[in-house]
Amino acid sequence: MTDMRRADYSDRMPFDHTELRRVMGCFATGVTVITTRDQGGRPYGLTANAVTSLSLEPPLLLICVDRKAETYPHFFDSKIFVLNILREDQEDVSRRFAKTGGEKFTGVSYRIGHLDTPVLEGTLGHVECRIIETLEGGDHVIHIGEVQHAEAGEGRPLLFFRGKYHKLPSD
Ligand SMILES: Cc1cc2nc3c(=O)[nH]c(=O)nc-3n(C[C@H](O)[C@H](O)[C@H](O)COP(=O)(O)O)c2cc1C
Repeated sequence: MTDMRRADYSDRMPFDHTELRRVMGCFATGVTVITTRDQGGRPYGLTANAVTSLSLEPPLLLICVDRKAETYPHFFDSKIFVLNILREDQEDVSRRFAKTGGEKFTGVSYRIGHLDTPVLEGTLGHVECRIIETLEGGDHVIHIGEVQHAEAGEGRPLLFFRGKYHKLPSD
């Protein structure tokens, strides 16, 4: 696995996690499924909203992945991820990829993209990235990906706000 800079958290203040969750739950986001694969080509993926575009030149994105996620080690194997941005009719896909275990890809339409990694069908768009750097982020890691291919689709986004799924109101 990639060497990561180790932060020193020994001097930190005691903190109320519940309140932090409540505050950050007010930060409305879109919903993505981040996919990757293992060395044998088996697909993996997880629902994620801790993602952002980082730079246009060079084109970079970042994703944050929980160290406890089953998908976690496979980003280190492949050094690749695909960010699939979900459409408002894909709440079932989000729920499926937000659960550990099971055959997550069974019954989900996907194709193999430019980097031999699953690209979900029916999304608002997707971005295929090569991981160029990994940073430590407490109980998560931050993968910075250089964009290799990006494609926007049609439709409206699935949203997440205060622990629930939402859609944009109709125009
Ligand atoms: C809306 C939403 C956003 C999430 N965002 C993230 C995230 O950014 N990073 C992460 O590691 N887990 C995130 N999760 C949790 C994972 O999807 C969840 O832990 C999943 O079970 C991991 O799957 P795995 O263990 O099969 O890898 C999110 C879940 C939901 C419902």
